Amino acid sequence: VKPRAHSKQASQRYHNRVAGKYDAMYDDVYWEFHDRLTWEAIKPFIPRDASARCCDLGCGTGKWGLKLLKSGYATTFVDHSPAMIQRTSEKLPSMGPKAKKATLLVADMLDLSALASDQFDLILAMGDPLSICSDPARAASEMLRICKRGGAAIATADNKVAATQYFLQRGDLDGLEAFVATGRSRWLTDDRSEQFELMTFTPSQLQALFERAGFIMCKITGKTVLPIRQFRNSLADATMFDRLMRMELELSRDPSTAAAAGHLQIVLRKP
Ligand SMILES: C[S@@+](CC[C@H](N)C(=O)[O-])C[C@H]1O[C@@H](n2cnc3c(N)ncnc32)[C@H](O)[C@@H]1O
Repeated sequence: VKPRAHSKQASQRYHNRVAGKYDAMYDDVYWEFHDRLTWEAIKPFIPRDASARCCDLGCGTGKWGLKLLKSGYATTFVDHSPAMIQRTSEKLPSMGPKAKKATLLVADMLDLSALASDQFDLILAMGDPLSICSDPARAASEMLRICKRGGAAIATADNKVAATQYFLQRGDLDGLEAFVATGRSRWLTDDRSEQFELMTFTPSQLQALFERAGFIMCKITGKTVLPIRQFRNSLADATMFDRLMRMELELSRDPSTAAAAGHLQIVLRKP
């Protein structure tokens, strides 16, 4: 099996296995903080036109696409894991008549040939499917193709500099050297057959990736700029949560702070 095909199979295997418990895995106050930042980024790009179409790539259990569907937009959910799409479909009945506006698709974001060009007003690719997929440049081109002219896309990816910590903690200089050269890391789950490759980016590499595809960058931010993950206790009560959120949003107004964060979030427009 070629390395890329192997990584794809490993990702599908892992995501199929965790689909049933995925929501519970990310149900804590740090991820609540992280999710609030995601929604703050999406809100200004929610289409004004009720007939607009949205697409959630690497939708997982549907966290973001379901919010768009709930707001009334026709939403297409795409994931390469059938079990993730199944979890999303199980949530549709609770949406009532809006569920009719959902389209579910098991597909690799590298080949969205099942979707017509120039149709989506808003495309999301949250939770780093761009880092997981085997060819981020091709994914960016597919995103451009299915996006309407003037439409927006928002994607997240793993930040390269943040990932260096893993190698230093283990005193693995060989690993660090290879990582600095390539930006490639692995998802470190116990079962080796589920360890898929992860592509990390510096903020300017992520910007260049999308600009080469033909997008215009509107904004890049770090998620999270404050090292909240190591200091979850600082989110202990609602007042602290809100104060830290205000500080995080203030810091992230300066795009250069993105370089310090675990994840990068980029907002794009198709010209
Ligand atoms: C970390 S989860 C994020 C799920 C969801 N977007 C969220 O933010 O909660 C990443 C998702 O991307 C999907 N994914 C990874 N690579 C993909 C690819 N090449 N094509 C389609 N989906 C992919 C995985 O199956 C998984 O469901």
